[in-house]
Amino acid sequence: MRSFKAELVDSRRVGDLFWGRYRAEGLEYLQPGQFFQVGLERIDMFLRRPLSVAGFEDGLVDLFLRIKGRGTRAIAESSTLSLLGPFGEGFSLSGARRVLLLAGGMGIAPVRFLAQRLRRENREYRLVWGIRDGRYWQAFGDLVGDCEVLSEDGSVGRRGDVMGFLEEESGEGWDLVCACGPSGMNEAVLGWIKARGLRGQFSLEAHMGCGWGGCRGCWVRFAGRELYVCEDGPVVEVRGDA
Ligand SMILES: Cc1cc2nc3c(=O)[nH]c(=O)nc-3n(C[C@H](O)[C@H](O)[C@H](O)COP(=O)(O)OP(=O)(O)OC[C@H]3O[C@@H](n4cnc5c(N)ncnc54)[C@H](O)[C@@H]3O)c2cc1C
Ligand code: FES
Repeated sequence: MRSFKAELVDSRRVGDLFWGRYRAEGLEYLQPGQFFQVGLERIDMFLRRPLSVAGFEDGLVDLFLRIKGRGTRAIAESSTLSLLGPFGEGFSLSGARRVLLLAGGMGIAPVRFLAQRLRRENREYRLVWGIRDGRYWQAFGDLVGDCEVLSEDGSVGRRGDVMGFLEEESGEGWDLVCACGPSGMNEAVLGWIKARGLRGQFSLEAHMGCGWGGCRGCWVRFAGRELYVCEDGPVVEVRGDA
């Protein structure tokens, strides 16, 4: 585990949504799905918050943020960050030629990094992103690039959500389904994958303390397993049994 200094080079804020692009040295080995415990250079560990890497190219790291409380607000307002990590298991693309990506709301952060990697590796993918309203598109849309958007209020793309998309999608032809979203969406995707015997990977979220296995604070139950998200995930693999 190392700490990296990250300098803000570009950003955008739309309401409580924030995109920051940071220059940071030595991160070439980052894997989509991994996260940092992000803090301010001048303040202690107490204010660190887990944030997924939303992209990495040419020495520039992207973070996508929803400002919730004092930690995420401080991060969005700071021009220099300390990135501790990277932590966790990322997505594993071994044997995957055609990948279906499903993101709900801020779940787009790790999924966007994964799409960036899939593009670079010339693998085939389809990205479906469910959002509540147009703010998500204004904040991150041009950075996400090619994707199908479903918005709950119908203001961008088609009206609907990821669950509605699944009702219409047969699942045929996909080697791997990667998902990140709220727990209701994850459960729906899990049921869909299981019913079709597909291979899935989920990036999970939990309230976290340390980020590396010391506090036991990030316990969740998912797909019949009991997991510590920082140690066993955040990305966990599930195989359908159909
Ligand atoms: C592995 C991982 C990756 C994440 N990646 C991202 C990301 O890329 N972008 C992003 O915007 N957020 C991400 N999060 C969530 C983010 O860490 C929390 O929103 C943040 O820690 C809130 O801190 P705060 O000080 O702003 O809010 P606080 O003042 O601590 O809390 C404000 C509100 O948010 C709730 N909250 C706090 N932490 C979480 C959490 N982990 N999950 C759900 N609700 C929470 C609290 O219960 C409270 O209601 C990630 C979380 C994990 C575990
Ligand atoms: S966050 Fe401390 S054990 Fe997972």
